Amino acid sequence: MYKILSREDLAPNIHQFEIEAPSIARKAQPGQFIIIMVDEKGERIPLTIADWNRENGSIFLVFNVVGQTTNKLAAVQVGESIMSLSGPMGLPAEIDKFGTVVTVTSGYSVVTIVPVVQALKEMGNRVISIMRAPTMDSVFGQEHLGAMSDELIVTIGDNSCNGEPNFVTEPLEKLLKAEQIDRVITVGPVCVMKLVASVTRPHEVKTIASLNPIMVDGTGMCGCCRVSVGGKTMFACVDGPEFDAHEVDWPSLMARRCTYASNERGWSQYRCLDCAQW
Ligand SMILES: Cc1cc2nc3c(=O)[nH]c(=O)nc-3n(C[C@H](O)[C@H](O)[C@H](O)COP(=O)(O)OP(=O)(O)OC[C@H]3O[C@@H](n4cnc5c(N)ncnc54)[C@H](O)[C@@H]3O)c2cc1C
Ligand code: FES
Repeated sequence: MYKILSREDLAPNIHQFEIEAPSIARKAQPGQFIIIMVDEKGERIPLTIADWNRENGSIFLVFNVVGQTTNKLAAVQVGESIMSLSGPMGLPAEIDKFGTVVTVTSGYSVVTIVPVVQALKEMGNRVISIMRAPTMDSVFGQEHLGAMSDELIVTIGDNSCNGEPNFVTEPLEKLLKAEQIDRVITVGPVCVMKLVASVTRPHEVKTIASLNPIMVDGTGMCGCCRVSVGGKTMFACVDGPEFDAHEVDWPSLMARRCTYASNERGWSQYRCLDCAQW
């Protein structure tokens, strides 16, 4: 059992938990995730390790309440425990001296990108962070991300794939035209990452997306998280979650994420962000 040490409500439907998990805290690296089961009948869902405290033996998770399991998790209070946490899983984020790196995040990933930004800064990179929130009252995490970054651009706007994409692509496009950008890293809803890839492709700037397909075991055995990258089948849980965004087959990722949409419909808080079908 894994005890909740503290919790903070960051914005409507966005919560941060600190959880006692010494063996995970000891090994966690930027970009890795855990698989959580809230109770013995719960489903397994992946959440990124947003931060860790090796001395206290705790890890931090930030999650968006979108369906059944995240609703259940949001109901767990400080002092109570969740049944299972497996991890750290996935390959750590690729950290090197790239030069100027732009990160583009939306939702929970505004917080989960922070360890990656910190590691990039420690390697001597200049980091410009573009973050996006759907509305003014859902802006969170900007102080922490801003403190780690050389520059922070906050954008507010609708997230629909069918909507106006300017909320993150416009500042990104401006940066790409104004100066040498050596790498772009994007984490967030699939439609945001796909748009980012389409903006950077003509500029031939290496772009990394942290993919979020449905995962079950997280060990490369069940095949649930398979994605097509550069025409090859990869498993996001063991080969990723980071992949070259220009090589990802985005339509198939979007379609696979909706596999259980009709089963989950009763729990869903809002329409699917990726295909707008719910
Ligand atoms: C590597 C990785 C890291 C992630 N990190 C975070 C994080 O730090 N914070 C956060 O809020 N979310 C994160 N997610 C997404 C999170 O796993 C889903 O939002 C969660 O599974 C939804 O479960 P649900 O039962 O509440 O909602 P559901 O109603 O089941 O689903 C809502 C949406 O989540 C997707 N989803 C459902 N089950 C899974 C699953 N087992 N694996 C992946 N996606 C699923 C569905 O395609 C759908 O779009 C991450 C996903 C991956 C793959
Ligand atoms: S989650 Fe089962 S193979 Fe990746």
